[in-house]
Amino acid sequence: MSKILQQGGDGEHGGLHKVLSVRDLTFFGIAAIIGGGTFSAIGNACFTGGPGVILLYIICAIACGFTAMCYAEFASRVPVSGSAYTYAYVSFGELFAWIIGWALIMEYSIGNIYIAFSWSGYFTKLLESFHIHLPEWLTINYTEAHRNFLENKPGEGFNAWQNAPMLGSLRIIFDLPAVFINVIITYLVYRGTKESKNFSNAMVVVKLLIVLLVIVVGAFYIDIDNWTPFMPNSFSGVMAGVSAVFFAYIGFDAVSTLAEESKNPQRDLPKGMIYSLVICTVLYIILALVLTGMVSYTQLGVTDPLAEIFELKGVKWMLFIVSIAAVVAMTSVMLVFQLGQPRIWMTMSRDGLMPQKFSKIHPKYKTPGFATIVTGIVVGLPIFFTDETFVLDFTSIGTLFAFVLVCGGVLMLSPRSEEEEAESKTKGKFRIPYINSRFIFPVLIVIASGIVQYAFPNFFTDTFDFSGDALTTNVSMVAFFVLCIVMAVLAFVKQLSLIPLLGLVSCCYLLTGMAASNWMWFGAWLVIGLVIYFIYGRNNSKLNLTKS
Ligand code: ALA
Repeated sequence: MSKILQQGGDGEHGGLHKVLSVRDLTFFGIAAIIGGGTFSAIGNACFTGGPGVILLYIICAIACGFTAMCYAEFASRVPVSGSAYTYAYVSFGELFAWIIGWALIMEYSIGNIYIAFSWSGYFTKLLESFHIHLPEWLTINYTEAHRNFLENKPGEGFNAWQNAPMLGSLRIIFDLPAVFINVIITYLVYRGTKESKNFSNAMVVVKLLIVLLVIVVGAFYIDIDNWTPFMPNSFSGVMAGVSAVFFAYIGFDAVSTLAEESKNPQRDLPKGMIYSLVICTVLYIILALVLTGMVSYTQLGVTDPLAEIFELKGVKWMLFIVSIAAVVAMTSVMLVFQLGQPRIWMTMSRDGLMPQKFSKIHPKYKTPGFATIVTGIVVGLPIFFTDETFVLDFTSIGTLFAFVLVCGGVLMLSPRSEEEEAESKTKGKFRIPYINSRFIFPVLIVIASGIVQYAFPNFFTDTFDFSGDALTTNVSMVAFFVLCIVMAVLAFVKQLSLIPLLGLVSCCYLLTGMAASNWMWFGAWLVIGLVIYFIYGRNNSKLNLTKS
């Protein structure tokens, strides 16, 4: 841990350029947040949840808000590049740090696969508006095409499977634009943060203006009758969209990977994270209202819902603008995540948990060049054999897991000394205000249970029904109840800090919305990570006390 703190932001180890200000960091946050979740995944969330999806946006905003404060607290205490990995190291030690670093691959690299697919969808549309048509076997992934063929589902996938050229017995089907954008982004990030920063800032301005335009133009087409029924598939329909809605919020935490390129990380990183999250939350809630108000939720189950609503309303000029905005928005998200992943690996490599090459800085571009290229490969290869739904769920569960550990980590931190408090005040460093949860948290649990019982009279009886199919859905909810009771006891006994506690509990609540298959894949991923740790990381760790 001491080694981690020594590395903090002095550039001694990294030699990265310190060029980023609060404005740049906020822009990076927005660049990472508004992307595939807003332009693509929101459609299915509205379709399953109806207008009630707005509740899910609010719940996710609350969970992310508390988590952002925890990230900010850590960023102010430990200003180095590793994000949640570093924070877990400080709070829980090496094994947990490794687990988090491993889970963050799901957020940063796997998340970019989803965005590359969504990017490709809008980019292909844009090309078509210029009468450029790529063959179907070059615009869809193999898995989806195969599935559509097996299900005899007419459309792009089915056609791709039938018309694809053959290499021996193998059909050549892959998403060329998705591969293309990954190569471009990898190149930009390899070349350096400053170039990427300028590019990213320009894209953020464009996408903010266009999201605002969508809201303003869309507001004229709202028909309030579309807001009823509010939850056509009950609250479980709303929760079915949890991966998609949560995915839309991911990104504020990526700001924390830029600690060593910030001018004043302890003051500026927290601001960058919190400002970007607040701006996006406000936009999302209004956007969800506009979207579900413009057309019936039943018409939103598409991958390009923002284009679809204007098509349905006959506002053709907005179609083109939205397509350009989507391409721009998703490019900037990919850029930020592809910047973040190598920096996390760089930090892990310095600690000996990954090979030395991952922390090698390019002599000319001052970026972690090797790690950047490996990231490009990790994002690029699965594009050939995965599909969108899988990577979306996988990203959300892994990121939520990391968020839970970050909030838990803040609960484990020792309180600041008086000198540290005084220093924080004079230097403008962020700190989470301590609110004693001793009585507040148990009371909040009782109030929340009362509200749920009042709003959904069958909720508790249904949850404790373990017959048939209900078993898998309810196990996670029961585990959540148990967690609430345990945390209420701990809050009372240990007088825990309220904000990180609420962050932890709200993220755990979102995890209850994940399907059983997501848990199985996630479990397998963790097992693979643990095997690698025990074979490589533990033996090579530079911080392993038994070796010193
Ligand atoms: N929040 C990011 C997006 O929606 C990951 O693309």
